[in-house]
Amino acid sequence: MVYEVVTCSEAPELDEQAGTALREVWPEFIFHDPTSRTYIDRVQQHFSRFDLWLLDDGEVVAGGWGVPLRWDGTVEDLPDGYDGGLVRSVGGHEQGVAPNTLSIMAAAVASGRQGGGLAGRVLTALRERATDAGLTSVICPVRPTLKTSYPLQSMADFATWQRGDGLHLDPWIRTHQRLGATVLAPALRSMVIEGTVAEWESWTGLAFPQSGDYVVPQALATVHIDRDADHGSYLEPNLWMRHL
Ligand SMILES: CC(C)(COP(=O)(O)OP(=O)(O)OC[C@H]1O[C@@H](n2cnc3c(N)ncnc32)[C@H](O)[C@@H]1OP(=O)(O)O)[C@@H](O)C(=O)NCCC(=O)NCCS
Repeated sequence: MVYEVVTCSEAPELDEQAGTALREVWPEFIFHDPTSRTYIDRVQQHFSRFDLWLLDDGEVVAGGWGVPLRWDGTVEDLPDGYDGGLVRSVGGHEQGVAPNTLSIMAAAVASGRQGGGLAGRVLTALRERATDAGLTSVICPVRPTLKTSYPLQSMADFATWQRGDGLHLDPWIRTHQRLGATVLAPALRSMVIEGTVAEWESWTGLAFPQSGDYVVPQALATVHIDRDADHGSYLEPNLWMRHL
């Protein structure tokens, strides 16, 4: 099957369709990361060549995007995660720092099309664009899909859960592994999302009648609710993996 790959800026007429097809696969709280909100316009402005859609007969079936940044190749120098990657890439660009690495920030496949290997095609297309742009490393703060079933376990422990065949228990990590990627390190503060109790209730569809830690659908860790402070906070852990 041949899929066309376009950058979002090349096909603005597909924006609405892509928004509908790809937005619904994410939990609502993900869209309330303040770092993302601060940086996303500049990411789209500066790095549109790394923002791709996969088209099947003109229809958007998958997408993915990344940001170029400077990384010295060590675990110590990895950004904190998704938020840290956005800050370093945009900050570096604005200060004239030459990037050497693509950080793949997200990939999504339309709900009716998952399980068909489309995400691997998106990752491969992004890797190719990185190489074409002269970037020599490709990393990714991976959001393991199975971790939503294990919000109480640490990402450091989850990262070690292998199957008998040596591949990871998590299907999304396996997709990266099959493309040759290896695990670098957990990103324990990849995204920091905060809101009032009412906001967290509207984002999750749950009631939080008392203070404490709550298991929330599609979250990779618990959400901490403090009713006295009218505050809810979520630190999303991801897993840094390296493709190149
Ligand atoms: C994670 C995601 C990008 C994977 O895309 P995909 O094209 O479906 O992935 P693949 O076809 O390569 O499937 C990878 C594995 O997941 C499994 N899988 C995919 N979709 C599945 C589903 N809906 N339910 C259960 N398993 C699924 C596949 O069977 C495969 O497992 P295998 O290793 O045993 O073969 C896609 O599910 C998605 O868009 N999820 C929502 C957004 C998200 O979480 N993105 C990742 C964070 S950046």
